[in-house]
Amino acid sequence: MTATTPDLWHHYGRSRAETDRGIPASFCWIWGQSTGPGPEVLGPLSGAHVADLGAGAARHAAHLAVHHPVSRIDAVDASPSQTAMALELFGQVPRLQILSTDAVAHLQTAHASYDVLYSVFGAVDFTDPHELLPAARQALTPGGRLVFSTPAHFLSGHVAEADVTSRKIAAKTQDGKAAWMPRWVLQAHAWIHLLDQAGFSGISVETWPAGQGPRPAATLLVSARRPA
Ligand SMILES: C[S@@+](CC[C@H](N)C(=O)[O-])C[C@H]1O[C@@H](n2cnc3c(N)ncnc32)[C@H](O)[C@@H]1O
Repeated sequence: MTATTPDLWHHYGRSRAETDRGIPASFCWIWGQSTGPGPEVLGPLSGAHVADLGAGAARHAAHLAVHHPVSRIDAVDASPSQTAMALELFGQVPRLQILSTDAVAHLQTAHASYDVLYSVFGAVDFTDPHELLPAARQALTPGGRLVFSTPAHFLSGHVAEADVTSRKIAAKTQDGKAAWMPRWVLQAHAWIHLLDQAGFSGISVETWPAGQGPRPAATLLVSARRPA
């Protein structure tokens, strides 16, 4: 097992991208992507500057760029293979910018410039929250919103961590070798504490039950604001 593989997201979403190449008609937060609330959770989007943190193939971002009146949406992802896929699928979508970079590094250069930041099982799950959340707060405009969905428990069924700690989860290199990456799967109170520590207010957490299908998981849908 190795932790130094450069891109452990090569295989993610790859077979879907061969056949499902259209702009998604809907936007789902919940694990399984079939039910639950939609982009209204992000608040008003008219003229908003938005970023998706850990956008993968940028399906959620492409939906927002086409179906909602954002001024611009930046689909940020640290995986070169994911951003290459996003560019191939949605590189021509107006108002959508695909950025191949680490979310923390990007946010640290973006002082008070985003109205809305969100993550759908994205960078928030796989990045030390002590780094990501303060960077997100300072990148938001006063009153700006951070919304993210994250697993309510480990996919194995084990309960989420009560403390702020990551666990190693299985991953695969491009050539199929076993590897691991850290994932922060935390209980609601741990996210609330972290967001509070990072200077957010108006923090809320909703739990959505697991749906049907393989590897079902319940979802925490978390939202917070940079104080105005
Ligand atoms: C499970 S995928 C989710 C992708 C997408 N949000 C979706 O719903 O299909 C997680 C994504 O987060 C990205 N990611 C993880 N940590 C990141 C970070 N620190 N900065 C940018 N992207 C990150 C990975 O490269 C991967 O594409």
